[in-house]
Amino acid sequence: MRVGILTGGGDCPGLNAVIRAIVRKGETVYGDELVGFLDAWDGVMERRTMPLDVSSLRGMLPRGGTLLGTRRGSPYDHVGGPQRVVDTFREMGLDALVVIGGNGSLSVACQMHSEFGLPIIGVPKTIDNDVVGTELTFGFTTAVQIATDAIDRLHTTAESHDRVMVVEVMGRHAGWIATHAGIAGGATVILIPEMPFDIEEVCAILRQRHERGRYASIVVVAEGAEPVPGTLPMGEKVYDPYGHVRLGGIAETIAHSIEERTGFESRVVLLGHIQRGGTPTAFDRVLATRYGVEAIDAVHRESWGCMTALQGNEIVMVPLAETVGRTRPVDLHLYRDVASVFFG
Ligand code: F6P
Repeated sequence: MRVGILTGGGDCPGLNAVIRAIVRKGETVYGDELVGFLDAWDGVMERRTMPLDVSSLRGMLPRGGTLLGTRRGSPYDHVGGPQRVVDTFREMGLDALVVIGGNGSLSVACQMHSEFGLPIIGVPKTIDNDVVGTELTFGFTTAVQIATDAIDRLHTTAESHDRVMVVEVMGRHAGWIATHAGIAGGATVILIPEMPFDIEEVCAILRQRHERGRYASIVVVAEGAEPVPGTLPMGEKVYDPYGHVRLGGIAETIAHSIEERTGFESRVVLLGHIQRGGTPTAFDRVLATRYGVEAIDAVHRESWGCMTALQGNEIVMVPLAETVGRTRPVDLHLYRDVASVFFG
């Protein structure tokens, strides 16, 4: 078969490991011809491709980013865009397309499959771990490890100066990274998008801690966390060209407000894209490899319109329609009954 592969949305450690696994099994077991589309859907519309074979993937397993390049955006953003995708399938003689992407790219994949009957398989990726239908996306444990390493380092400088360190991590709609890194790093408070926070409560926790003689604290905040309406003035929202709110910076508002209300000296650390860069953890390499192998098997079973997913310890296929337009919130049991036990 002639199988295309694209990576879409924000990059994520483990993308190359998925591509490598698809190519390895596709070429050596099924005798497939694999074609990489450059820069996500743009490459499909513009027929910008690169051949993928086992030898071209040497050394890519531990490499972060994506050798295919990636973009946000969708064919539906362009007049005639979806039709150009359909034309590419016909003119290139493609038998299948594997879309490795997050919520945005998987929604496009689902729509292209249901509207035009294109033979598409999805593979979920995002460090945010918020794709519905799978218990884990690769890239997540790498981001958690990077954030935890940073928090570990911040403890000693915070203790030396008796400071509050407000650490902002990624997590647009879901607080998975914040909750896991916060537990692993021994955070004093964790703020997540799923639970609007009251800055007065945060300050009360910090004051109590000071009264117990602990003068340094780590507050971990997900970039998408929001205050209870009316409790903390926030700046104007800024949007990117694709209509996504440009997040990043809430830690600054929180740190300022903590210092003002408590008098405790506070500093801000924005981990930003460091969480998405570099080599994947061993766990993410294994998960990405399992997804890649399952994706090419699914191509040969013709499980069109489905994506690979982890459920329990099994890799299964889930209809893309079940994931579209939804995000998977953090496990609130983990947040309320485990993480918050250690607040203060
Ligand atoms: O991939 C999801 C994500 O990591 C979000 O947590 C974050 O808001 C977003 O990407 C930022 O991506 P970019 O700056 O590349 O648009």
